[in-house]
Amino acid sequence: MASLDRREFLLGAAATVAAGTSASAETSKLLGRCPGYGAAATLWDLQADPRLGEAISKYCTQVVPVLELKWPMLRPDPHTFAFERADAILDFARANDLTMRGHTLAWYHDIPDWTKQIKDAKTAERTFVDHITTVVSYYKDKLTSWDVVNEPIPDNPRKVSDRRDSYWSSMLGERWIPLAFRTAAAADPFVKLAINEYDIESAKDSFIAKRAAFRNLIQDLLDQGVPLHAVGLQSHLHAELEIDKDGLAAFVAELRSWGLEVLVTELDVDDQKLPGDAAQRDAIVAKCVDDLLRAITSSGPLNSILTWGISDRYSWINGTFKRPDKQPNRPLPLDGSFQPKPFMDVIAKFAKAA
Ligand code: XIL
Repeated sequence: MASLDRREFLLGAAATVAAGTSASAETSKLLGRCPGYGAAATLWDLQADPRLGEAISKYCTQVVPVLELKWPMLRPDPHTFAFERADAILDFARANDLTMRGHTLAWYHDIPDWTKQIKDAKTAERTFVDHITTVVSYYKDKLTSWDVVNEPIPDNPRKVSDRRDSYWSSMLGERWIPLAFRTAAAADPFVKLAINEYDIESAKDSFIAKRAAFRNLIQDLLDQGVPLHAVGLQSHLHAELEIDKDGLAAFVAELRSWGLEVLVTELDVDDQKLPGDAAQRDAIVAKCVDDLLRAITSSGPLNSILTWGISDRYSWINGTFKRPDKQPNRPLPLDGSFQPKPFMDVIAKFAKAA
């Protein structure tokens, strides 16, 4: 976005929000901000619907861009770093006294075609290191944390040493993961560096296997002295699956005993397999979130809970996991009209405990 558009954006939706929330702690309390609670948003949605920015400002203390810090948006071609759209979200965050975290530097998914066309290992490594160095340096002192490596474990690992195949692993081997962390730490020695994963929260064999492989990778990185500070539990929950309360609590306790912080980074609940009644679905979804947060907080504080969106109106779940009865999914703390659901009460309860 050109800087003029950015200014217009700030003078529009976000500035309206900012006016009401120049966010002293007192104002925050009045407006019901939940300490440590944040939401993901795209710039498109923030610009299109002022209610979204207002809701984030009302309930949240942090924000994370859904798309704007991923490779495709930042890197339209090998020579360009297009920071404008992520910068506009950072401007929104600052205008509303929110912190911002970064997502994501190295992922098997969302690698631009021009990158995948690089076929020699040296150029691939140079591109990878240059991207991480440039992006982390640019946002030095501006973001609270980075998801450095996203989703490194395959969905059905057969052994704990299994890692997800990707363009990066094919070009750089398994060292792409330590390299990503070392490069990020060299560019900003103070920002919190996280590894982020999904489908490890429920009591299902494939989830338990994935958690074990994730644990093995984390342990391996720490053994190698890799600068890893935090573990992100994405928590894209499935409403029909039980949270593995004991297994998850033990995993989180172990991570904390290794000196790592635990973050909830992308919480939402897919209710496609639940029956139709909305109130019933909302209650089951809230119970799922309560089970999750209870397990995670049983061994220590949880200072960061982010949901992947805040209102059902703007959620990737509705596009990705459609309900057979064609009703919209209800995955987030606010409904499609930005009214709080029981999910938000659970967030408030655990955010206050943080
Ligand atoms: C999703 C976005 O929400 C979608 O809009 C996009 O099309 C694909 O990516 N795990 C992640 C997020 O780490 O980056 C994903 O976001 C959701 C799953």
